[in-house]
Order: sequence, then C-alpha cells, then structure tokens
Amino acid sequence: EEMSQTDMIDYLKESVQPESGAIPAFLLGDPKVYDIEHKKVFLKTWLFIGHESEIANKNDFITRDLAGYSVIISRGADGKIRGLYNMCTHRGMKLCRADAGNKSSFTCPYHGFNFKNTGDCIGVPLQKDLYGEGFDKSGLGLHKIRIESYKGLMFGTWNDEAEPLVDFLGDFKWYLDILVGRAEMEVIGPPQRFIIQSNWKIGADNFVGDSYHTMVTHGSIVKLGMVPSATYSKKGYQIYTKNGHGLNLGTPNPDFAFPEELKDEYKSNLTEEQYDVLSNLKNMIGNIFPNLSFLISHTKVKGQLISNTSVRLWRPVGVDKMEVITWFLVEKNASDDWKRRSRESFILTFSPSGIFEQDDTEVFTDITAAAAGTMPLVKGLTFNYTMGLHRKPVADFIGPGVVFDDKFTEANQRNFYRYWLDLMTS
Ligand code: FES
Ligand code: FE
Repeated sequence: EEMSQTDMIDYLKESVQPESGAIPAFLLGDPKVYDIEHKKVFLKTWLFIGHESEIANKNDFITRDLAGYSVIISRGADGKIRGLYNMCTHRGMKLCRADAGNKSSFTCPYHGFNFKNTGDCIGVPLQKDLYGEGFDKSGLGLHKIRIESYKGLMFGTWNDEAEPLVDFLGDFKWYLDILVGRAEMEVIGPPQRFIIQSNWKIGADNFVGDSYHTMVTHGSIVKLGMVPSATYSKKGYQIYTKNGHGLNLGTPNPDFAFPEELKDEYKSNLTEEQYDVLSNLKNMIGNIFPNLSFLISHTKVKGQLISNTSVRLWRPVGVDKMEVITWFLVEKNASDDWKRRSRESFILTFSPSGIFEQDDTEVFTDITAAAAGTMPLVKGLTFNYTMGLHRKPVADFIGPGVVFDDKFTEANQRNFYRYWLDLMTS
C-alpha cells in the first residue's frame, strides 16, 4: 500500500536508529525518501556551488545547480559575488545557457530582456512602444540567492532562514582551514563531471567515515606495492562535529608532501596545532553535510611524494543516480611543475580514469541496485552501523570535535545519519 509523506516521516523516526547503528536499506532506494530529502535537506541547508577562483575576474560567471535549479554565480564590476536564479522574470526562460564565461549582462534567448550581472533588468526590446512611457523595470530583477563563502569555498542556499554559513560549519572550520585555508588555493580547469548510477548518500557515507573498505575495495593497490600493508588506512583519527560533518585524518607521515617553499605561507595561515596536523598528514578524507566530500591524498609521482587536494559534489539527479563533480585545487603560489605533478597524482587516483574512483564506483552502483524499489522496505532490510560503538572518544586531541583514535569506526556515519534524520523529521 502507498505510504503518504507523513506516514513515511513517521516510519523514518521508527526505523532509522543512528544511535544504535541500524540504518535501513530503503533510504538508498525509496522514491518517497528522495522527494522528502529534496524538500527537507536540499532546499534547507547550505550546498556547495564552487570555488571563488573560478570567478576570479570582474564579470566572470559560472552557472551551477542548486538543489535542482540552475543559478548564475557572478562577480560584478564591483568585485562582489552574487547568486541569481537563472530564470528570466518575463516568462521563465533559462537566461544563461553557458557553464562559464565573462559577461556584464545576460540577454534572454526567448524575447531578449537584458539583465545586468547584479540582477537588475536593464533592457526590454521595444519597451516604449509595447509597454508605454512610464514602464518601471525595477520589479523585474532576477531572484537573488544567498551565497556565502568560507576560505574560497562558495555555498548557496534557498533557505532565507538558514543560519550563517560559518555557524553551519561550526568547529569543522578548523579542519577546512587545513584543506583550503592553508594557502591561497585555486581551481585548475573546469570541474570534471560524470554520472554514476548511485544514490548520493553512498558517496557521502563512504567519504565521511568508511576507511574500512580500503583494505578490500582498494586491495589491488596493496598488491601493486603502492602502499605497504592492507591496513594502511586504519592509522589516524576519525572526527565528527555537529550538523553531520566528519572527516578522517591519516597520520603520521614522515615525509612532507606539500611544496617546501610554501612552509612560511602555511605557517602564517594556520595555527601551530593546524600546521602540526598538516606537516604529519598522510591523507584527509571527509564530508561536509550533506554532499560535499573532500580529499587530500598523496601519491608518488616520479619518486617524489606529492599531495593532491580536491573537493567533490555528489549531486543527486534521481534516487538512483548522481552527477559527481570534482574540483582539483592547488596552492596558487606553488611552481608550475609542482602544480602539474599534483594534478597528475589526482588524475591517477581520483577521476573517472583513477584507480580509486573506478573501484568505488563499482561498489556504489551495486549497492544502489540492491537497495532499489519497494522490496527493501517491505522486507525491513537493515544495515549494521555498530562498528566502534563500544569505543570512547579521545580526550586530548589538538583539534575540535568528537575524535576517535583510529579510522576504522562508523561514528561519523552515525553522526551523518543523525543529522539527516533530524532534518528529514523536523
Ligand atoms: Fe525572457 Fe521573455 S522569457 S524575455
Ligand atoms: Fe574508496
């Protein structure tokens, strides 16, 4: 029998139990859950839309998806960044159909209304003739969207009541500083985009806390001798903060995998404690709720250990489908040679042709197929998320959050689903 939305929300309250580690399979395949997610999660929270360096110059713009709706992110002649709903106010046509460019105004492809990149309507074809002398265009401006940035990462939201971005990120900012605030960072090239037949939460779950899978899913890199042992990803810390955010810090690392000549820049941007984490970092993998994952990983390129930094969006385009959008980030003041090698190390590992990415994608699509449709709900199929429930957090870690002193635990997934459930049932 068809469940109403209210019934579904009640059923979520009863069946999703992050505290005791019971997460039902139907969350990954039920179309009703997907619809509720759109309203209660994606239209409510901050969502990543790009990096400020993608629109570095005056009048640069990008168009991006914000919870299923196209938005224009533009840097005005005044240097200010604005978010505009990419819908012409005359009859609703998509105003700008390019992914990126440099324009001070946009002309609608339907009847030719012209809008400045501040959103103001500045031109209507045959205005005097068709609308008369006193026609007022001031009410025709594009709908403005809240955009806020943290250390170059731009987020947008449809929710006018959403707390400020910095409050939403909370203590997690401490770790984001290491990710993107350690130096002036820039995105190289347009983001890579590819479609995976997967529910978006599998990607978020994997990056927020699943270091455990690396032993098996990525076992081939052990066989190839690229890492010393199968448990290479166990050592380190798993950390979560409020609002579902979480990360995994691989540490220690005897080699410094960042450009030596930038040590002063790092030190001036980070606290001593943050610099200590950076200089001992082996890798750093996490997720900003709901769907922005990030990664610093190291790969040997021509005998030298090179770090690469990236962020990725698991953009839902259906209950069983997502577009993965990845941005490669690099220190702006690194040498061209270092930037090239860092990018190479990224593409070798995390990109459609990268070895890790291909491993993970196989898993994500098979889980999605297994969890599809109504059977998993009817049968009450449930996944076990109890790993590490018996463990206590460490008290003396140098960074904020709830910290566990090895990465093989599911504390972060439980934290992710706890906040997800809060939003879904609010
Ligand atoms: Fe844009 Fe008419 S819909 S000008
Ligand atoms: Fe993986």
